[in-house]
Amino acid sequence: MSQTWWRGAAIYQVYLRSFADGNGDGIGDLAGLRSRLPYLKDLGIDAIWLNPWYPSPMADGGYDVADYRDIEPVFGTLAEAEKFIEEAHELDIKVIIDVVPNHSSTENAWFKEALADRAARDRFWFRDEPNDWQSIFGGPAWTQVADGQWYLHLFAPEQPDFNWDNPEVHREFEDVLRFWFERGVDGFRIDSAALLFKSETSYEDLDEVHEVYRRWREIADEYGERVLIGEVWLPDQERFTRYLRPDELHTAFNFDFLSCPWEPAELRRVIDLTLTTHAPVGAPPTWVLSNHDVTRPVTRYGRADTTFAHGGRLHGVPSDPELGYRRARAAALLAMALPGSVYVYQGEELGLPEVEDLPDDQRQDPMYHRSGGTNRGRDGCRVPLPWAGDEPPFGFGGTRTWLPQPERWRKVTAEAQAADLGSMLNLYRTGLAHRHDLLGDGTLTWLAMGPDVLAFTRESGLTCVSNLGAAPVRLPAGRVLLASGPLEDGALPSDTTVWLTSLESTITG
Ligand code: NOJ
Ligand code: CA
Repeated sequence: MSQTWWRGAAIYQVYLRSFADGNGDGIGDLAGLRSRLPYLKDLGIDAIWLNPWYPSPMADGGYDVADYRDIEPVFGTLAEAEKFIEEAHELDIKVIIDVVPNHSSTENAWFKEALADRAARDRFWFRDEPNDWQSIFGGPAWTQVADGQWYLHLFAPEQPDFNWDNPEVHREFEDVLRFWFERGVDGFRIDSAALLFKSETSYEDLDEVHEVYRRWREIADEYGERVLIGEVWLPDQERFTRYLRPDELHTAFNFDFLSCPWEPAELRRVIDLTLTTHAPVGAPPTWVLSNHDVTRPVTRYGRADTTFAHGGRLHGVPSDPELGYRRARAAALLAMALPGSVYVYQGEELGLPEVEDLPDDQRQDPMYHRSGGTNRGRDGCRVPLPWAGDEPPFGFGGTRTWLPQPERWRKVTAEAQAADLGSMLNLYRTGLAHRHDLLGDGTLTWLAMGPDVLAFTRESGLTCVSNLGAAPVRLPAGRVLLASGPLEDGALPSDTTVWLTSLESTITG
């Protein structure tokens, strides 16, 4: 793979707790992941991004890190992690891990020191009086400790925020990056990347943060072929692309695309905006339809309102499963055809819906608990994957999974879908295989096919056409390489995407 493999990569997101269980305790782990590497190879991805795998009390699914230089014992050992990196590399799969620099865990050694000794509090935000900031998960952003002081936590109380005005915090994270680069990881996904610095009035996107990423980029460059990916939720595209300047992060998640409704004009606007804002900084766009924080696309696209927003989540709002599934297939081929890198969140390739009927007493997300249940939280997209068989745990491992799987998932196991040529799994497999040769990094040229149709051609000659209107549309000349659903007398039906090659092309479908 080239020096710039990340520019056009297909990156598969592994939420380790829910991917595959190797030791039978009902929680996903490294042994389970290692045993499923051949599945990921067959899927045709270039890299894996793993959510945090560090020792953690799991107050926020591992985003409360107790030790940045080790592996959570429930997931495995450091030696196993090293073995996993080696095995992935043997299959030509890169490994990206999560780093969480904004906050820590109340179980982190530095925080325990701070609790025991007032003189050791400067690595965090301790104050005699709290301000009025609210936690992103709901409730106040400050918690009082026994001696009367308060500490800041933008997320759960178990996640105290680091003080990035303290140089020791900088040194610590630079060392953590090196620790993992030396163990062969190919990059980092940076959690809450815009939140590190705080002023009296703001905790978002302060200018000082860019110095940190310039330094991190120097470190990444020392190791060569490594990538830094930012989780940057900012409404302002200009502010967003500052993180992608040539000496800062390599890429960042495209949350505008992820939140975009299934409407042609809005999608076209977001795609164009993405391309025009990334071009001046030379960073490749990314295309993301889902992750471990958002409603699964099959459910979202089946609703009358197809947007995603954290606040509402539209939990329980009726969704037409057939419509959602059809659109999710069309969206997948659209996302895979766009120039840049593409993300696939585990289970997206199986077309899993959001599990909205989880029993409330089994919900674990702090977002649910801290909002007093008004926000149902993110457990519904984190249910352990169904691999095979007719009943839970569907080959996941163990007998009882940490979140219960719905009985109805017998139809959507990876095993059942592998045997069905028309399945979502086979759509992703075929799409990713073609993408490898024909798509990825580069540019696109729009074709005018009316207001309901998104149509463009890529450098390789591949044309992608998505029909978001109600009526079928006639296709431009070309040979059908892949379609998200059946054509109707050669025309492209509603909510369907097709990939075409020129008639003379030697590309085979
Ligand atoms: C973003 C992560 O994706 C999310 O899962 C987590 O809760 C917050 N950052 C806090 O770390
Ligand atoms: Ca396990």
